[in-house]
Amino acid sequence: MPVRRALPTLLKDPLGGLVRIADEARGQVVRLNLGTFRPWLVSHPEHLQRVLRDNAANYVRDDRGLLWRPVRRVVGEAILVAEGEVWESSRAALQPLFTAKRAETLVERMAEAIGEAVDDWVEPARAGRPIDGARELKTLVLRATMRVLFADRISLADALRISAALDTVTTAMMPRLVAPFVPYAVPMPGDRAFREAVRTIDQVVLPIIRSVRARPDDGDDIIATLCRPRPDGRVPDEYQIRGDVVAMFSTATETTIALLSWLWPVLATQPDVAATLHEEVDRVVGDGPVRREHLGELRYTRMVLDELLRLYPAGWLIPRTAVADDVLGGVRIPAGGTVLVSPYVTQRMATFWPDPTRFDPERFAPDQPRRRYRYAHFPFGGGPHRCLGQYLFLLEAQLIVGTVLSRFRFRLAGPADLTPRMGASLSPRQRMALTLTPARGPVGR
Ligand code: HEM
Repeated sequence: MPVRRALPTLLKDPLGGLVRIADEARGQVVRLNLGTFRPWLVSHPEHLQRVLRDNAANYVRDDRGLLWRPVRRVVGEAILVAEGEVWESSRAALQPLFTAKRAETLVERMAEAIGEAVDDWVEPARAGRPIDGARELKTLVLRATMRVLFADRISLADALRISAALDTVTTAMMPRLVAPFVPYAVPMPGDRAFREAVRTIDQVVLPIIRSVRARPDDGDDIIATLCRPRPDGRVPDEYQIRGDVVAMFSTATETTIALLSWLWPVLATQPDVAATLHEEVDRVVGDGPVRREHLGELRYTRMVLDELLRLYPAGWLIPRTAVADDVLGGVRIPAGGTVLVSPYVTQRMATFWPDPTRFDPERFAPDQPRRRYRYAHFPFGGGPHRCLGQYLFLLEAQLIVGTVLSRFRFRLAGPADLTPRMGASLSPRQRMALTLTPARGPVGR
């Protein structure tokens, strides 16, 4: 696609523009000419399967692809961005923390932390005072995640500081992402804010890591696990541990917050979905609290989550660099070429989804025929880098939706047609003021 068409389309509406370009090509590989940056947009599920899984060794997360460079400045060679032995070592260390069996053991503690956070909403509900939907959801997810994955080694106040610093990092790195050819020796807007945010993160994280390393224990939380020698015998240094801790903090919290923040506008704009969801939660959870045995019965809740993951996949862009020449759908991808893979794009293409922008959880009803392509819905990526937190996320999200809806009904003040903000993940750009009323009986149960 020539620069005179690609650039205006993507500058006007980058996300929508990519979907349109991919649909016009009916899923064929498109080379985007964006001046000095000329990536290949890969959107067909068969091609995605090749890039992410079948020929994954040829498509790596690489500095030469430039998109990864600013991210590496925050997390170093962490699990989220590394390749090769360093990645294998971190993944092997963390994997045992994310098995389905272990996730199950965390449900009760997670439900407890979620319940405590939601208790804080009773007072504003009584007073009729709106809450800030994004901020409260962030507090709730941080509380639950710090408890079950970080053994409360990071306090809620510090978790909020790290989270705010990560938000700054994302905004501050945008100029570098947009102009990846500018050398780091040349100052750019955002550089100073970026450095200060990284310093804030280090001020919180490094003392914790140092104290855990000084007195190692056999804790099964993320920090204790990362401080121990790796299963392959490697002894990680402080730089490596810090990178993995920050990466895990970021991915375990930001993705969940971003994805669930779309629940409020969906409830406000889709009365039928809201009614079915409320009916299910009332029937299954009743007065609560949500328990492990409820989760299997919250089937419609799970369908709503799958549909949220289709339309608002938090990990919306998965860039890769080709190691050697390859051919995708008849198009030659030369060694060193950047390939853009995006769950957001493929999951919104009319080529693969009827009426793609409609929010319709029935697409994921258990009695629906099997989808033709495995990679038409791939919010958690695929292949060797497939999301480690997928199972845990789905449990946590069901617990959160079940808990908040068993206690309150929500009304969104202001417009509900919210638009996504392109960042590390994909959250609504607009503020969300929510008014709460009790789901049943007086507030404060
Ligand atoms: C809405 C929720 C989430 C979404 C949509 C999501 C999406 C993704 C995607 C697309 C990838 C693949 C990245 C790539 O191939 O380069 C990924 C990787 C990863 N995710 Fe998630 N994720 C979510 C939640 C979580 C949670 C809750 C955790 C941890 C508690 C987590 C941990 C990870 C890790 C460690 C990786 C890196 C795996 C590797 O490179 O080996 N994710 N995630």
